[in-house]
Amino acid sequence: MRETILTGVRANEEPTLGNFLGAYVPMVELAKKYAGEKDVNMFVPDLHSFTTPIEHEELYGQIIRGVKYYMAAGLPVDSEGVSVYRQSFVSAHSEMAWILSCFTGFGEMQRMTQFKDKSEDLRDSVSVGLFSYPVLMAGDILLYSAKYVPVGEDQFQHLEITRDIAMRMNRKFGEIFTVPVKTAEQVKFMNLDEGLRVRSLTEPEKKMSKSAENENSKILLSDKPEVAAKKIMSATTDSVGKIKFDMFNQPGVSNLLQIVSLLKGVPLQDVISRWVGETRYGDLKNETAEVVRRFLVEFQEKVAAISDDDVLKVLEQGEERARVKAGAKLLEVQKVLGLRR
Ligand code: TRP
Repeated sequence: MRETILTGVRANEEPTLGNFLGAYVPMVELAKKYAGEKDVNMFVPDLHSFTTPIEHEELYGQIIRGVKYYMAAGLPVDSEGVSVYRQSFVSAHSEMAWILSCFTGFGEMQRMTQFKDKSEDLRDSVSVGLFSYPVLMAGDILLYSAKYVPVGEDQFQHLEITRDIAMRMNRKFGEIFTVPVKTAEQVKFMNLDEGLRVRSLTEPEKKMSKSAENENSKILLSDKPEVAAKKIMSATTDSVGKIKFDMFNQPGVSNLLQIVSLLKGVPLQDVISRWVGETRYGDLKNETAEVVRRFLVEFQEKVAAISDDDVLKVLEQGEERARVKAGAKLLEVQKVLGLRR
């Protein structure tokens, strides 16, 4: 059986340039690299979208748009073994989540730091869904026997609990689940440069976050190119007065250098050697603004050229395949539980 790489991205917030460079591009690279050799599952965890309150009128459009972003970024959707699907269109996800929840400790779930953080912000509107979110996620992974699950650091704890649930059930029922590799190995597999994290434009010591309230801190993939260029021009830098790549002491200018390198596809070292020692931050901002503006013009043209029907065709194919694979795993589990013969 072929190994599976699987990941999912929530669709209910407009992605930033940081998401694009830190998640979309690396995932597309992995998909291109392994297409034909491993199965690549890129799915939309749409049932995860409302574990916290959202605008429901927006959701359908956001899901379709999210898939367009992946396609515009170059995801090889026509390659054999690459599947794109929506979680809610494969009912085994919901069924598996219930089963797994009965083999997950209440105490171990209470330790999830993302739940603790999010529920502090939400106070009274904390749902049971937010609490059991990692169990649904474990099902997303285990249904497809995924070995590699490229995710950001904020999801590592959820990956660990997935491993714990899988190992526990394997001990009890025999080897029914493939246990995804440890997070340290996942990081190696992703081959991501640790420093590669686009920073906030207004508080460059933090990462660029799609949920940040300050619109000037982030570049959205849907930003008007001229607006995005202005945001770069007003980005926070420092008072050192000389350009140097130093994420600790000069995160603002370092961030700009990194953005130029990533968007132009030029090695960071080359960008640095061109700018190091320069005193005119305005020139660096001009160049970065122009690179960002041009990227957005081209990217948005690509997105506009993909129709909703194109997306639906890709999704429906993926969902058909996903139903077969997930359905088979669910049946195996139902059997060992005593629900089926
Ligand atoms: N929780 C992930 C996030 O917020 C999304 C997700 C849901 C996911 N199910 C998954 C990621 C399974 C990888 C595998 O980013």
